[in-house]
Amino acid sequence: MKKIPIIMDVDTGIDDAIAITLALSRPELDVKCITTVAGNRTIETTTRNTLDVIAYLGEDVPVAKGAVKPLVKEAKISPVTHGESGLGNAVLPHTDKKPIEADAITAMREILENSPEKVTLVPTGPLTNIAVLLFAYPHVKEKIEKIVLMGGGAFEGNVNAAAEYNIYSDPEAASVVFKSGLPIIMCGLDVTMKAYATADDIERIRKTGTNAGKFCADALEYYYNRYKINSRLPGCAVNDAVTIAYIVNPEIVTAKPSRVLVDIDGVKSYGCTASDFRPDRDRSLDNALVCTDIDREKFIDMLVCAAESYK
Ligand code: BDR
Ligand code: CA
Repeated sequence: MKKIPIIMDVDTGIDDAIAITLALSRPELDVKCITTVAGNRTIETTTRNTLDVIAYLGEDVPVAKGAVKPLVKEAKISPVTHGESGLGNAVLPHTDKKPIEADAITAMREILENSPEKVTLVPTGPLTNIAVLLFAYPHVKEKIEKIVLMGGGAFEGNVNAAAEYNIYSDPEAASVVFKSGLPIIMCGLDVTMKAYATADDIERIRKTGTNAGKFCADALEYYYNRYKINSRLPGCAVNDAVTIAYIVNPEIVTAKPSRVLVDIDGVKSYGCTASDFRPDRDRSLDNALVCTDIDREKFIDMLVCAAESYK
């Protein structure tokens, strides 16, 4: 089977960890490297969590450490959203594995330059590393198949009414990425809030009886309890895993073309992904496919299958 080469760029994070678990379980994917960025936690913790998740799953993927802070703003973590460790109620043994010597930007450049085929980038945190890569090494653009990112929202925010966390954390970087001319698939809140896991779903994942199933269920349980307090959903959105589901199974996701502009000068709308769907817009300016819906049951089945596969 011809595999799809991808590089994940993560700020692990509960849902980043689920995205990693899903990606590494899929035979269709060749995860070349996982790069880390400051976001949900400091760069030290997102890197540590990423290494621990990969080791716990018994996988071996190079991890490269990336940006310590956004391009312009200061890094701001919320210890509440993902729990103290960043992995919810899951407690993983710490691995001795270290990140590779190359930093995230260098690692991405080397992989892209040396790849005979185009590679898909999958960022599920602030877009700092991707923006720096495109600035520092614009020639690698020709080796990027597309960018499938978790971030933004055409019709809703979660940090405030207008902005989603990953984009709001580094709007200037996001603006660079959305203006890059590369094909972008935006898995924002419009779709990820429909990709939620209920208590029953989490139980299904746990009942797979695998270590991965226990880990994912423990992590998601924390997220679920947070959502119970501050969300209208009957479960927790497994945001970041939607990117991988899209790459493996695009037919379970609905997406429509749009021109997305990241607001980097607004006061109330700073970090907002203003998405133009007007039928009479100049479609030659469209720069993204904005995902709006997902077959939730098929998505959850994918997560259950992922947990089962780590027997
Ligand atoms: C995004 O913010 C982070 O907290 C999650 O990991 C996800 O990438 C959702 O807005
Ligand atoms: Ca994330």
